[in-house]
Amino acid sequence: MNQIVLFQNISEIAQLGLPENVVKYFQTLVNDDKYGYDYFGFEGHFYLVKLGKLTGNAEAERLRVEGSRIAKSAADLKITNLQVIYNGLQVDEAFFLAEGFLLSQYQYNRFKKSAVTNSQMPNLELNSSENARFETLKLIVQSVFKARDLVNEPSNTLTATALANAFESLGKEAGFDTEILGKAQIESQKMGGLIAVNKGSQEPPSFTIMNYKPANAVNSQPYVLVGKGVVFDTGGLSLKPTPNSMDFMKCDMAGSAVVGAVLYGVAKLKLPVWVMGLVPATDNRPGENAICPGDIITTLDGTTVEVLNTDAEGRLILCDALSFAKKYDPSLVIDFATLTGAAAGALSSYGCAVMGTAADSIKNEIKESGETVYERMAEFPLWSEFGDEMKGEISDLKNLGKGAGGAQSAAMFLKHFTAYQWLHFDIAGTSFAHAPKGYIGQGGTGFGVRMMLNYFLKKYNGK
Ligand code: BES
Ligand code: MG
Ligand code: ZN
Repeated sequence: MNQIVLFQNISEIAQLGLPENVVKYFQTLVNDDKYGYDYFGFEGHFYLVKLGKLTGNAEAERLRVEGSRIAKSAADLKITNLQVIYNGLQVDEAFFLAEGFLLSQYQYNRFKKSAVTNSQMPNLELNSSENARFETLKLIVQSVFKARDLVNEPSNTLTATALANAFESLGKEAGFDTEILGKAQIESQKMGGLIAVNKGSQEPPSFTIMNYKPANAVNSQPYVLVGKGVVFDTGGLSLKPTPNSMDFMKCDMAGSAVVGAVLYGVAKLKLPVWVMGLVPATDNRPGENAICPGDIITTLDGTTVEVLNTDAEGRLILCDALSFAKKYDPSLVIDFATLTGAAAGALSSYGCAVMGTAADSIKNEIKESGETVYERMAEFPLWSEFGDEMKGEISDLKNLGKGAGGAQSAAMFLKHFTAYQWLHFDIAGTSFAHAPKGYIGQGGTGFGVRMMLNYFLKKYNGK
């Protein structure tokens, strides 16, 4: 018997039918302030988790972290199956615990000669009456893992072409359509930003269009998600220094990973909502032919941009995708991008920055969805002065602001290309974990996927 027992009062323990010595053991411990209490004996392994130490979203997050701690302990003890014991009032808490438990089981083994397989991870059981909700949770976790896999894959195998193919595979598995534009089509479309960033590369760029449009979609105008797909960012000729800067830049396609994973999730969950994804992808390198500081390029919508720093490349590829999105007459466009060190500097890895022109009601729902899953965001202001910084002297725009407030000036650059309700997520600080923490291991985090899926589920599930 291996169990995780949720309880509020120690008196509940006595009624659970646990072995007597287990009950006695726990009764001696309940007054300390630990998160949970573990008992390992010949009768089995028991984890007691006291509920209500905190309140609201903080308590939910505490339980996720508790779930990850138990998962690790159970794996170390080679437990194969664990049952969660809880009562009808504790269902949400059981699910928070399960969420952290499952999210912490992620491993990236693709390049390991020998590795622990998932079958060695303990299985978790909830009451069968919650099977449907548990399946939904498992699909969300799977979607997060798809994003983490993409971020963790290095750029020598995940080229822009490979990234596009990966989205196509996700579409085939989950049930959405994918169209991939190659270099020739990108050129004939006149995506000047994407072409410019790709100039220094040996690898062709790609532009992926994902489309999940179920027959029962309740919206007649799509949500369009746009993701930055820079498979590696060296900075280009404005080269980055390696330590703590370039060394983890395989994560610069994390925005695109969020987009692919959210499409995967909504399709797997069969939500009755029309969602599209657009991903411009390339690496950013100082090749022979690379764009130079001072070069002036013409983007898809005809706007000219003076490229004063080739490391501010994300905005150059995103602007083409944002212009491209107009043709779908979207109800809302949301972009995800590891765009600026400034966003990471302001909020660390604790949350992302959000900016945009969407109605307050949409912003509030999105923020609430983020809080619910602990993918928090802070809104930065789009003051017109930040836009003034991006005006060009000899071109329409330039790609570099004054430095301070870099997340906002980058966003004001993007805003120029939007003519619809729009939100921009700068996930530079939250996409890649430099050390494991709770249910997030080192590497790609999948930050943003649970927030978006939670948003779509709340709005469109059961409709
Ligand atoms: N990919 C980087 C931003 C980044 C920083 C992502 C840290 C993840 C973690 C982006 O392309 C970049 O280089 N931004 C520059 C812009 C600057 C040159 C205006 C930055 O933030 O320093
Ligand atoms: Mg850069
Ligand atoms: Zn970048």
